Amino acid sequence: MENRIGKRPIIIAIDGPAASGKSTTARILAGKLGYTYIDTGAMYRSVTLKVLRAGMLDRLRHDDREVAGLLEGVDIEFRGDRVFLDGEDVSEAIRENSVSREVSFVSSLKPVRDRLLELQQQMGAARAVVMDGRDIGTVVFPDAELKIFLVADPRERAKRRHAELSLKGGVDAAPTVEELEEEIRKRDRDDEERTHAPLKRHPDAVVVDTSLSTIDEQVSRVFQLAMNVLEG
Ligand code: DC
Repeated sequence: MENRIGKRPIIIAIDGPAASGKSTTARILAGKLGYTYIDTGAMYRSVTLKVLRAGMLDRLRHDDREVAGLLEGVDIEFRGDRVFLDGEDVSEAIRENSVSREVSFVSSLKPVRDRLLELQQQMGAARAVVMDGRDIGTVVFPDAELKIFLVADPRERAKRRHAELSLKGGVDAAPTVEELEEEIRKRDRDDEERTHAPLKRHPDAVVVDTSLSTIDEQVSRVFQLAMNVLEG
């Protein structure tokens, strides 16, 4: 299969902590390459929404086996920028606070990781994908031709989140930069310290620090890295 720029299709894995600029960078990069963008965070968020709606969350804290049944026939699909869970557009619902609060817990469960691993590997089987998350280069596609690990200073990430939230709901409704930084540091710890597929850099991953760069600069850096692989 040939993609838009006529090269052998590859997998580009982009991992990194929350608010490091992964999804914006990955989405634009995929557009430039004519590749499919897969936001695996949105998949974990969709599963969290499904668990919440099923009223299963508290039971899972004691025994996580029940979730395997819930996820057996789950259908998660990306259509353009939208995410569909079992046929329903949940693009907004998965960004609600109730989901954000519980997604770290739900994504730490082994049956959840096993099921999403399976779905993600199916989605990337034909290659020509940019997939972002926490464990793409280490667990989902350790054979990805290009692995990128995006990092950014927690304070910078908090400022970005703050700007984003202020734009959405007004600056008064947004948590302070300090509160957001605390939340981000906690989520980093949760993601790095969990037992199954923790956030970790693959030894081959190229580290890109976005603390001081604009989106345009980040995108051109990763686009250049992709071109080096495609032309190499
Ligand atoms: O990228 P995000 O912030 O929307 O991801 C939400 C949560 O999902 C994040 O706290 C960790 C989890 N996640 C994961 O465990 N593995 C992935 N590949 C992607 C996300």
